[in-house]
Amino acid sequence: MARIVAGIATSHVPAIGAAIDQGKTDEPYWQPLFRGFEKSRQWIAALQPDLAIVVYNDHATAFSLEVIPTFALGCAAEFAPADEGWGRRKVPIVYGHPELAWHMAQSLILDEFDLTIVNRMEVDHGLTVPLSLLFGQPQRWPCPVIPVCVNVVQYPPPTGNRCLQLGRAIRKAVGSFDRDLRVVIFGTGGMSHQLQAERAGLINPEFDRRFLDALVHDPRGAAAIPHIEYLREAGSEGIELVMWLVMRGALDDRVTEIHRHYHVPASNTAVGHLVLENAASQPPSVGHGHRN
Ligand SMILES: [Fe+2]
Repeated sequence: MARIVAGIATSHVPAIGAAIDQGKTDEPYWQPLFRGFEKSRQWIAALQPDLAIVVYNDHATAFSLEVIPTFALGCAAEFAPADEGWGRRKVPIVYGHPELAWHMAQSLILDEFDLTIVNRMEVDHGLTVPLSLLFGQPQRWPCPVIPVCVNVVQYPPPTGNRCLQLGRAIRKAVGSFDRDLRVVIFGTGGMSHQLQAERAGLINPEFDRRFLDALVHDPRGAAAIPHIEYLREAGSEGIELVMWLVMRGALDDRVTEIHRHYHVPASNTAVGHLVLENAASQPPSVGHGHRN
């Protein structure tokens, strides 16, 4: 059976993608940020997951204010990187996994999570920057990716608790797929940042660190944070953190924290990163199961 073995949380700042694409990762401004992902790249290279589910938000690229799905599931065979106004990132096409994605659609919808099914979609930095951070610059991404898109752009976004519950339903869906796949799930976006109005540039490391701790050790507590608290403490774009709760809900209650990184600033946001393994999972060095 398929199973989720680990979760990854990371911010998905567009400037990080530009720094990678333009070969600036060793520059003094960027080096401390990218150094914090080195261990994670080694970890995932050893883990060799068969598939990644990436929970992210679209930034008015595939969707607009004309259509705003709260949760959308990418069921296509491939997803092209989007042109977000300065050309497409020179990153590989993202290949999907329609078989598992459709299985997830059935499991989730019959489980009363009414996801929008998306059969054609371009993916923006929200999805491709996390892949670059973990997988570097390969000719082809090392595994298929199923995009799960969450509306955090137009009020009202889903609650943290709904996101945690969706993660649990995703775990159930994956666990009932009759193929031997080892799956990792990404929660992306955040941490504290505000891009607009009087408080533009807001970063709140104290809130961010509390959130990281709660996400690892008290996911229910993290899921109870109301929207107004994200807005007040983490800025208007800090609400992206609810997407990390989807990832967390897909893991065991008890997890092993493999790695944590926090860096301020990158462009105009705080960058947070966690690697979590299900406590029951085998360490990567013990065995890789079957490749897809
Ligand atoms: Fe974002």
